[in-house]
Amino acid sequence: MIVITAPTGNIGRRLLSLLVEAAPAHGEELRVVVRDPARLPEAVRDRVEVVTGSHGDAATVERAFTGADAVFWLVPPDASAAPEDGWSGFTRPAARAFAAHGVDRVVGVSALGRGTAQAARAGLVTASLAMDDLIAGSGVAYRALACPSFFENLLEEAGSIRAEGVFTDTVAADRRAPLVAVADIAATAAGLLLDRSWSGVDSVPVLGPQDLSPEDLARIMTEQLGRPVRYRRRSLDDLRSELLGYGLHPEFAEGVVGMKRAKDLGLDAGAGRPSRPAVPATEFARWCAETLRPAVLAAPAAPAAATTPTAVTTPEAVDAH
Ligand SMILES: NC(=O)c1ccc[n+]([C@@H]2O[C@H](COP(=O)([O-])OP(=O)(O)OC[C@H]3O[C@@H](n4cnc5c(N)ncnc54)[C@H](OP(=O)(O)O)[C@@H]3O)[C@@H](O)[C@H]2O)c1
Repeated sequence: MIVITAPTGNIGRRLLSLLVEAAPAHGEELRVVVRDPARLPEAVRDRVEVVTGSHGDAATVERAFTGADAVFWLVPPDASAAPEDGWSGFTRPAARAFAAHGVDRVVGVSALGRGTAQAARAGLVTASLAMDDLIAGSGVAYRALACPSFFENLLEEAGSIRAEGVFTDTVAADRRAPLVAVADIAATAAGLLLDRSWSGVDSVPVLGPQDLSPEDLARIMTEQLGRPVRYRRRSLDDLRSELLGYGLHPEFAEGVVGMKRAKDLGLDAGAGRPSRPAVPATEFARWCAETLRPAVLAAPAAPAAATTPTAVTTPEAVDAH
């Protein structure tokens, strides 16, 4: 039995669709933990067992992990909480339940940076690495998917790319670092969840094929979108003020700023690529053509009445507002 948390999210919904196809051939059953089962695609609803509730809730994970061999673990970022509470606090009931129910293997979504000089002062990334330690301390075999920033964060910039030909971040224009497509994270997770042969604790870097700077991204987007796109760098103080203005928890806002500062200092830049990646890595140019281009060319959404960042679901999405 493989249990999938956050099955309606960016990574989770892709993982669910891969496992629904592949699990029967491996003799695996699937169970999802979901707050609202109506949000699952109709085509999969009768092919998985459903536990309704939040995977941050002790009673829910008690039910969800009974009889589980493997678990996919993903913490939904909570901008209303301090990062320590958001990642380790959310994970604590699950870590207890992994041990109590004798779960064999857990595959979790985490961040690059372990072992670097910046790791202890990298805000949301530091919180994510502490979550990995908590899970590893429960005694399960654990693989932390060590991810850089997602290509998909750029979807938050589709409106400004469409309107002004501009995308914004805080890192130096020539700071090269890996990025990754969420589809590659889901495919890597699927492979590990179906593979019963691994044990112990380790990190698995999941990286796109090249390190890219904001200048590189602008050049490739310009080519793929057929219109000029340029990078605008903003200051960390400007970012902090904006996040606090949206009413984010002050420690979460500081966590985003710390993560951005660490990325500018090279948090992700030294990550080595595995000589044989588990899945073929998606090129940024292909992702632009298939995913960003339709989003930028789509009709602009009606202006939202709300003044708070309703789309704040990932560390990077926070920055996009
Ligand atoms: N973005 C990046 O660049 C980046 C880089 C490295 C690591 N990460 C990590 O990637 C993860 C985010 O992945 P993602 O983009 O796939 O996530 P996502 O799309 O935000 O999905 C998370 C899902 O969790 C569910 N959810 C929200 N609040 C919940 C709660 N309180 N209890 C239970 N479920 C809840 C939501 O589904 P429902 O509304 O249907 O319940 C949502 O679809 C985070 O852990 C982040 O730290 C992100």
